Amino acid sequence: MQGPAPSSNATDAHFNLTSGGATPPQSQTRSGPRTFAPQSGFAPWKNPIKPPIVRFENVTKRFGDFVAVNNCTLDIYEREFFALLGPSGCGKSTLLRMLAGFERPTEGRIIVEGQDITDLPPYERPVNMMFQSYALFPHMTVESNIGFGLRQEGMAKSEIDIRVDQAMAMVELMPFAKRKPNQLSGGQQQRVALARAIAKKPRIMLLDEPLGALDKRLRGQAQFELMRIQESTGTTFIIVTHDQEEAMTVSSRIAVMDKGIIAQVATPGDIYEYPGSRYVANFIGDVNILEGKVSAVSDGVIDIAWADGPGTFKTRSAENVTVGQQVWLALRPEKMRITHDKPEQSENAISGKVDDVGYLGSISHYHVRVANGQRVTALRANSAQSFERAITWEDQVWLQWPADTGVVLTK
Ligand SMILES: Nc1ncnc2c1ncn2[C@@H]1O[C@H](COP(=O)(O)OP(=O)(O)OP(=O)(O)O)[C@@H](O)[C@H]1O
Ligand SMILES: [Mg+2]
Repeated sequence: MQGPAPSSNATDAHFNLTSGGATPPQSQTRSGPRTFAPQSGFAPWKNPIKPPIVRFENVTKRFGDFVAVNNCTLDIYEREFFALLGPSGCGKSTLLRMLAGFERPTEGRIIVEGQDITDLPPYERPVNMMFQSYALFPHMTVESNIGFGLRQEGMAKSEIDIRVDQAMAMVELMPFAKRKPNQLSGGQQQRVALARAIAKKPRIMLLDEPLGALDKRLRGQAQFELMRIQESTGTTFIIVTHDQEEAMTVSSRIAVMDKGIIAQVATPGDIYEYPGSRYVANFIGDVNILEGKVSAVSDGVIDIAWADGPGTFKTRSAENVTVGQQVWLALRPEKMRITHDKPEQSENAISGKVDDVGYLGSISHYHVRVANGQRVTALRANSAQSFERAITWEDQVWLQWPADTGVVLTK
């Protein structure tokens, strides 16, 4: 898995980044999620009487013996920017294609705005899809590609021209209006496909890896653009991506998929802070996972005896566990304090030797080899006023974390 790279685009700075606890701001910008529409309190999924705009009900898709999507149940709400995230081949595109009507579920139903659309053809659904392979017409110019769907609908030419111009302006394609797809770069072609999907003004927009062909900087800008378009049109967006940072940046909620199964659905903040499994914890951001067995549970404090190192970790966690149960403690690197001196609190302190240091400007990563041979990563801000002695290779160090920062995982 690729860890989150340092933020290199300016868009990150616009967002209100959430991350609880005593996290240094540097690490929030680096790997913490933004909150979706921070001021609006937008969270329709918390409202039990709010009907979803899209409902997948026990949807399974088999190709021969192969199960591409396995009994997925999922609700998506109006105006959400919903991300399907997962590694290649986990079933993201298949799920989206079933919603668009290009694949039929083997089992289960798909309901849109209260209507069972499982048997409706694609053109009768209030959705429009931007494909992973943009599927542009090579013989048509940019503007006629964008207007294609509208001409099919029989829309008046004057209205088509307005819509096409609006869509081209949104993705900055005006200068390329008269070009053909083979006269455009990959990223520009992708923007044509995006503009074509936007021009239709669907109620639900499906985007399959819409930014895959863009470089890191353009991608950051395009994410911001997508969010702007989504917010200004009030359309429900469902985006497929295998880029966890992208999902964290743009979405109201994320479904993390694993081999056809939905592993977890939550806001970016909750996925990051409260992953439900090692799979999800590992998929989003960097994480340290310490294995152990529950040795005591009392008053909301769980004691975990470290599997192959000395010591017991104390953690406050709502997880329902019993003494003797095997568990994993997930700790984000920015929650680990790294010091030369033994910390005053002996609680949750382990020692080790620095194996590797990654300097990233405002922060550094320290990879520390601890008692059981495991490498544990800690982050530390590189502040100019630091009175602490610099930590470097081969140094003997201590890692310590507060009891309320770790997440106890049972799977
Ligand atoms: N028409 C098909 N026939 C047989 N197998 C298929 C078909 N379409 C998809 N699959 C298989 O179903 C699985 C899920 O495919 P899908 O395209 O949904 O993956 P994905 O999550 O979108 O991956 P990627 O990130 O690589 O696009 C894959 O293993 C794929 O090979
Ligand atoms: Mg795909």
